[in-house]
Amino acid sequence: MARACSVLFLLASSLAVSARSWYQPRGHPVHELFNRQNVGGGVADIGSAAWTAQYPADLATASVPAAWKAAYTNAVNAGLIPNIPVTTLGTDGLAKYPEGFDALSPTVCASAQECRINGSIPQIWDATPGYAGISFDDGPVDLPTASDLYAFLKENHQPSTHFLIGSNILANPDSFKQLVQDPQQELACHTWTHPVMTTQTDDQVLLELGWTLKIIHDSTGGRVPRLWRPPTGDSDMRVCAIAYHVFGLTTVIWNYDSNDWQIGAPDATGTYTDESVTASLTGWLNGPKTPGLLMLEHELNNHTVGCFKDTYSLHKANNWISTTVSDAIAAPSWYQNSLNNTAPVAALDVAAPAPSTVPSPHTLAVTTSTTPPASAPSAATTKGSSKNASNGVSDVGPLAMISSTALLGALLCSVAFW
Ligand SMILES: *[C@@H]1O[C@H](CO)[C@@H](O)[C@H](O)[C@H]1NC(C)=O
Ligand SMILES: *[C@@H]1O[C@H](CO)[C@@H](O)[C@H](O)[C@H]1NC(C)=O
Ligand SMILES: *[C@@H]1O[C@H](CO)[C@@H](O)[C@H](O)[C@H]1NC(C)=O
Ligand SMILES: *[C@@H]1O[C@H](CO)[C@@H](O)[C@H](O)[C@H]1NC(C)=O
Ligand SMILES: [Zn+2]
Repeated sequence: MARACSVLFLLASSLAVSARSWYQPRGHPVHELFNRQNVGGGVADIGSAAWTAQYPADLATASVPAAWKAAYTNAVNAGLIPNIPVTTLGTDGLAKYPEGFDALSPTVCASAQECRINGSIPQIWDATPGYAGISFDDGPVDLPTASDLYAFLKENHQPSTHFLIGSNILANPDSFKQLVQDPQQELACHTWTHPVMTTQTDDQVLLELGWTLKIIHDSTGGRVPRLWRPPTGDSDMRVCAIAYHVFGLTTVIWNYDSNDWQIGAPDATGTYTDESVTASLTGWLNGPKTPGLLMLEHELNNHTVGCFKDTYSLHKANNWISTTVSDAIAAPSWYQNSLNNTAPVAALDVAAPAPSTVPSPHTLAVTTSTTPPASAPSAATTKGSSKNASNGVSDVGPLAMISSTALLGALLCSVAFW
């Protein structure tokens, strides 16, 4: 994950301005950025009718926005999206490939069967030694239940990562609002409807990821998450390639599964109790520091949250550096276009090329415009993006893509994955 980057760039004097450039004007106090959605200026308040109306009520009847489709088509044409068939779910609940496709081969590499992608696309299983990346999947749930966790995290000044379900954001805006108001919480993507992703067609993958990124982007002053986690840990080379080459997303799995969601669940596949899950978490938190911890936990209900709270003191007792997943895996930032929830944001539309570098306060004043996604060169077609796509380390990934209409200049950058 080493990232050595030295970037020198000059901005074109005439920047293309998007009709939707509602980002902070020059000189606007940075600390207000994260609450931009409540300031007006063309962005609907979370939970308002206007906000809700922007998102599909039913993904099954939604069509893929043209800009996302264009970015995808460019990636396909550049040979970046492997042509692997969708899986079907067996009676055991496991995704199965058709004859001739080996789930464990490097070309398919099914994460649900523990195949780890080697280099060509970013996929994370472990945290940095000594770090515990705290994460919660499946939120936001309804407010009384969600408040319990969010208040606990805030009280303890504890940064963590939330792999959010887009349709849950839409259904529980008050919970989402509370989450967004704690600047220590990293927002990441867990799909819109929580399907087993390898069963989904390419178009469905675009919808699941794109809309979830979009609702987070629209509600947080334009931040585009860097991380996504596939539901049930199910992904493969095709799904991860779409996530990365179309949306710039790094796939995050885990190295310990608490199975906390199974406590009292009607569809549980094993016997798990508050005590058994707490015992597992205790063992891992008292265990070795290498690799660092990425424990799968959920913000689903009082059982899952209770197990987290009951073992929380062990983070400190064992001297873990317990933080967001991005920080625990040494990613350069929480969002593709911003260091975190309070730092400046570079204008970026979902599925548009990411900026060449994460904005620092010094670049804020000159990164207040964006290029409309439909006309922006996609990551896949920008010169240099595909040439090293399959040799282990892509030296120019979506993060390093520059919109040619927005930037001119010299770029000296060596980026591994990020
Ligand atoms: C990736 O590399 C590891 C270690 O070299 C190996 O065990 C694994 O099978 C490889 N996976 C693929 C898909 O090639
Ligand atoms: C979970 O706990 C919170 C705080 O104790 C409580 O307000 C809420 O009703 C509980 N939720 C459920 C579903 O039991
Ligand atoms: C967010 O980034 C800013 C730098 O722009 C830094 O000062 C601040 O401490 C960071 N906040 C968190 C929660 O990491
Ligand atoms: C691909 O990567 C290798 C090693 O990182 C580099 O030497 C080579 O120039 C790259 N190829 C192209 C076409 O840029
Ligand atoms: Zn989930």
